[in-house]
Amino acid sequence: MSDTSADEGRVSESEIAVHWGEEGYVRPPASFVAQANLTDPSIRERMRLENFPDYFAECAELLTWDRRWDELLDTSHAPFFRWYVGGRLNASANCVDRHLATRRNQAALHFVPEPEDEPMQHVTFQELYVRVNELAAYLRDEVGVQAGDRVTIHMPMVPDLPIAMLACARLGAIHSVVFAGFSGKACADRMVDSESRVLITMDAYYRSGQLLDHKEKADVAVAEAQAGGQAVGRVLVFQRYPGRYESHAPLEEGRDVLMGPALKAYRGRRVEPVPMPAEAPLFLMYTSGSTGKPKGAQHGIGGYLAYAAWTTKTIQDLHPEDVYWCMADIGWITGHSYIVYGPLALGAATTLYEGTPTYPDAGRPWRIAEALGVNIFHTSPTAIRSLRKAGGGHPEHYGIHFKHMTTVGEPIEPDVWKWYHEVVGKGEAVIVDTWWQTETGGFLCSTVPALDPMKPGSTGPAVPGIHPVIFDEDGQEIPRGSGRAGNICIANPWPGMFQTIWKDPARFVATYFAKYNRDPDSHDWRDWPYMAGDGAMQAADGYYRILGRIDDVINVAGHRLGTKELESAALTVPDVAEAAVVAARDPIKGVVPEIFVALHPGREGGPDLERRVSEAIAKEISPIARPRRVWVVPDLPKTRSGKIMRRILTAIANNSPDVGDVTTLSNPEVVDAIRSQHAAP
Ligand code: PRX
Repeated sequence: MSDTSADEGRVSESEIAVHWGEEGYVRPPASFVAQANLTDPSIRERMRLENFPDYFAECAELLTWDRRWDELLDTSHAPFFRWYVGGRLNASANCVDRHLATRRNQAALHFVPEPEDEPMQHVTFQELYVRVNELAAYLRDEVGVQAGDRVTIHMPMVPDLPIAMLACARLGAIHSVVFAGFSGKACADRMVDSESRVLITMDAYYRSGQLLDHKEKADVAVAEAQAGGQAVGRVLVFQRYPGRYESHAPLEEGRDVLMGPALKAYRGRRVEPVPMPAEAPLFLMYTSGSTGKPKGAQHGIGGYLAYAAWTTKTIQDLHPEDVYWCMADIGWITGHSYIVYGPLALGAATTLYEGTPTYPDAGRPWRIAEALGVNIFHTSPTAIRSLRKAGGGHPEHYGIHFKHMTTVGEPIEPDVWKWYHEVVGKGEAVIVDTWWQTETGGFLCSTVPALDPMKPGSTGPAVPGIHPVIFDEDGQEIPRGSGRAGNICIANPWPGMFQTIWKDPARFVATYFAKYNRDPDSHDWRDWPYMAGDGAMQAADGYYRILGRIDDVINVAGHRLGTKELESAALTVPDVAEAAVVAARDPIKGVVPEIFVALHPGREGGPDLERRVSEAIAKEISPIARPRRVWVVPDLPKTRSGKIMRRILTAIANNSPDVGDVTTLSNPEVVDAIRSQHAAP
């Protein structure tokens, strides 16, 4: 638990995790097994630890290399592992150009606008090629983007988003995609950290029936970035409706460019994909950690792309002729790996849905799936829970037939799993419950769908080639299959693993490796197990159950939020003296934040103050981070050394009758006060 283990006041998400029993197996249908990509029962034997790292050549063989690698894995700078060293390739060429010979006229992207009366759009590989090239030419020749430059992309789920990513990749530039739901301020923080001088954005997009003004966030982002020391010289604005500018924000002369007209001069332009070193960075994806500042997970081109392609093929079981829909957002790692890079590297079409799953009703996903003929469907437990609550939208009334369904991002309760299997999958689909992280690039644990039976509520065994180990707090390995909880680590490096935290290699080592590293000078990978930051247990059959984060991170509806980020946002309200965020169980979102704040002397609580705290969090971070409740309390429970006892607040937020020992508190009397406040309706 790295930097927080000394804080007896901390309580982790995994400690409030719902514990359920081991369920029985559900076997994959024979029809699925008959068509599956990975049916070789000796795969785990081939990919056993003794054969590491050679078996990871198999992932790289899925890609087209300009120059083959000399060395599969270089551990000389452990834990900064370098994959496929000496190899050269281009991610854009792998996702686009190489499919032209066989699939030029096939769909690469299906775009589903949120308004149901707007037609879907289907972008072929040929059109994707044209649009990626034209934008790459513009970025290179007009904006001066070069290999290694960082480009921030703050865009909703429209085809121009993957096109912008692939245009950057074509030039060897590093993209940093910021989830469109994040605020201008959150975008600015990421631009400052990544030193991006270019922002690619959009005028507006639909969400829950409203055309949201998005360009106004770009103005905030540029102003805040400037205040943070980062000049942003160019803002490239795509339009939701070409030819119609839908934002109220003015266009700033010399800085903001409407891309529709600007690209006219670039019609027909082509850019040779730059053959990049395998270990050059492909993108940054910012994610929350224990401190207030999001960290930029840096993923390398060769390793990341190889692993995304391989897991898409083997675990998603994607064939180019499938109709695949991952209902995540490209602004998160799931969208990077399993909407953009994995499917496109394999030459399969991928679906982009602009809006919310339950708009205008819970039947929407099934209408989309029916219209497109989707046969592989990928979503989060929160989406499944909210669709189920909204009546499920009656999947049985639609002509949907999934052969494969994925869940990702949070633990899924067995009864939710069974609803997904029986009602959505009509008992005909396999389900993979995939456990992984922004840092890991691709799946770590999952059943191999044609080989391993499913077990509701368990993520499954490790993905072939991945070798987990569970340690206790003292670094002792918890016996395999014992069902005892501990900190899950991965014993070996793998190609999809991130390379470092952008500009913060020391934090990379400290957060993910220091706790269980045996020798800081070692160049042997065996000394550097990767600590994922999750609590987990392994059952006797080798299947893992993930219990939740062991650090100050909470997973709200599959979105990862740092409690300290929320606390510092609350402290921007001048009345607030102290704030503590805790994780509370929620029937739909799994876990939600609740915030307890104490005010400066003489300041008044009440609904207005509560609203201002909630607004501050939405403005600084995003509406997705809004706490379920803001509790203004007389004081926060503290130890004599002044540490906030979050354990007590967590117990209260979860209506636990037992708040534990309060004798070490300097102010035990506040506990009852807070509890009766919380119990009041
Ligand atoms: O706590 C684990 C949870 O999500 C965290 C990673 O969040 P993020 O980096 O945003 O990536 C989300 C999409 C991969 C993990 O540390 N998590 C992810 N998948 C699962 C999960 N918890 C339980 N079961 C899963 N399948």
